[in-house]
Amino acid sequence: MPTALRHRIGPELVGQPVIERTNPADPTQVVAVTPDGDERTVDEAVQAAAAAQPAWARLPAPERGAILLRAGALMAGRRHAVAADLVREEGKTLTEALGEVDRAVEILLYYGGEGRRGRGEVVPSGTPHTLAYTRREPLGVVGIITPWNFPIAIPTWKTAPALVAGNAVVLKPASITPLSTWHLAQALDEAGLPPGVLNVVFGPGGKVGGAIAAHPGLAAVSFTGSNSVGRGIESVVSARRARILLELGGKNPLIVLDDADPAVAAHIAAASGFGLTGQACTATSRVICTPGIHDALVDALVAEAARYRPGDGLLPGTVMGPVVSPGQLTTDLEYMAVGAAEGGTMVTPAAEPDGQFLPPTVFTDIKTSHRIAQEEVFGPVVAVMHADDLDHAIDIANDIPFGLSAGVVTNDMRSANRFIDRIQAGIVKVNRPTSGVDPNMPFGGVKESSTNTYREQGSAATDFYTWTKSVYLGMDH
Ligand code: UN1
Repeated sequence: MPTALRHRIGPELVGQPVIERTNPADPTQVVAVTPDGDERTVDEAVQAAAAAQPAWARLPAPERGAILLRAGALMAGRRHAVAADLVREEGKTLTEALGEVDRAVEILLYYGGEGRRGRGEVVPSGTPHTLAYTRREPLGVVGIITPWNFPIAIPTWKTAPALVAGNAVVLKPASITPLSTWHLAQALDEAGLPPGVLNVVFGPGGKVGGAIAAHPGLAAVSFTGSNSVGRGIESVVSARRARILLELGGKNPLIVLDDADPAVAAHIAAASGFGLTGQACTATSRVICTPGIHDALVDALVAEAARYRPGDGLLPGTVMGPVVSPGQLTTDLEYMAVGAAEGGTMVTPAAEPDGQFLPPTVFTDIKTSHRIAQEEVFGPVVAVMHADDLDHAIDIANDIPFGLSAGVVTNDMRSANRFIDRIQAGIVKVNRPTSGVDPNMPFGGVKESSTNTYREQGSAATDFYTWTKSVYLGMDH
C-alpha cells in the first residue's frame, strides 16, 4: 500500500496526493503519493511559519532542544521502519539506510544538546562597569531544499540546527523521496514541536523550490543539490539579499601512493565510489595513482567492483542498490559512453543495466582533460588516473572546478601532511573513504562545490541560522 502524504502547513495536513513515487528496485510498486505544491502552498507555509516563529523563539533554548532530543529517541525506536521506507523510495541498501537513519538520530541528539550550550562571547569593554557580550538571534523563517540521495540525513542536518536556534522552517524534500522527510516531521510533531514551526511542502523542484527561493518572507535558504539548480536559486535569493547556503557537486579524488596496500586502497575507493551506488556528492570518482601501485590498484579495484552486484536493497546480502531513477541511469550510461569515446579503457565487464540495476564501472587511462575526469556523474563510475609522484597527483586532484572532499591512502606522515597542505577541498581524509562525515564536524567545500561562506553541521551550522547581536550593558546607573 502506498503512503498518501499531504503538505504540513501549520496544524493542517492539506493537498490532494497526486504525484506517485515508485520503488527504484521495482518500478511497478508505488511507495508514496504526494500533493503537487506551488507558489500558493509555499506562501501558506511561510505564513504559518511566521505566525509560529516568535513564540518558538521565546521558548527557552533548552526546551527547544528537549523536543529534538525526544524526536531523536522516537526515531531511534522506529529505525527499522524508517530505514525500510527509505530503501523503498531511494533504493540504497538496508544497511546503508539504517546507517543514515542512525545518523539522523545522532544529528537530532547533537542539536538537541546545542539547546543547552548556545553560542556567544563575553569580552572586556573599554567602558567601566559595562558588560559587553554577544547573543545569537534566530533569522526568523528559513527555507530548506533537500536532495534525494540522503533523504533523511540532509533534511535533519539542515532542519535541526535551524529549529534549535529558534527559527521556523519551510522544508521541501526532493519530490522523489518524500517519505523519509515525512518521518522526520512526524517524529518532531510527536515530540511536541508546536504546529507551524516545521512546515513541509511537496512537489517539483522548479515550482516549489523556485517559490521558496523567491519568497520575501524567507530570511535564508539552504539548498543541497545540483550545481545548475543551486546557482539559479542563489541568484534569486541573493537578489533579494537573503542569506544563502549551497552544497553542490563534487569530483572527489582519492590519491593512492606507492607505499599503500593496494587491497586496502581499493577497499576505500570502492566504499566511496560504489557504496550508495556512487550517488553522493562526496563519492570518490577519481583514483589517482603513483606509478608503483597503479596496476596492483586497478586489479584490486576490479575485484572490489565484482563484489558490488546491484540488487534490491531490502534483500539480505545486497551490497549496492539500484540507480535512483531512469533519468539518472541515462546520465550514468551517457558518461560511460563518453569515457570510452574519449579514450578511457573500461576494465570492468561492460555494464549492462537490468532495469535500474547497474553494475559498477572502472575506467583506466583517463586524463585530466577528459569529461569523465571533470564532470560529476553521480553513479558507480570510477576513473583511474596516472600521476608521476605525490605533487603531480595533487595537481591533478586540484585540476577540477570542484573542491568538496578528497582523500589520500598512504602510511607516510610527511606525504599525508603535504596532501593536507596543498589539496583544495573542504573535507580532507587520510586513509578514509571520501564520503561519510560526522555530524559534529563542519561540512562544506570550496570552488564550485559550495557557497564557501557558511558551513553545515557541527557548531558551524548555528552561524548560518543566526545573526549576532552585540550588547553593551551599562551597570553603574
Ligand atoms: C556523506 O558523505 O556522508 O549530498 C554526506 C551529498 C552530501 C552529503 C554527503 N551533501 O551527497
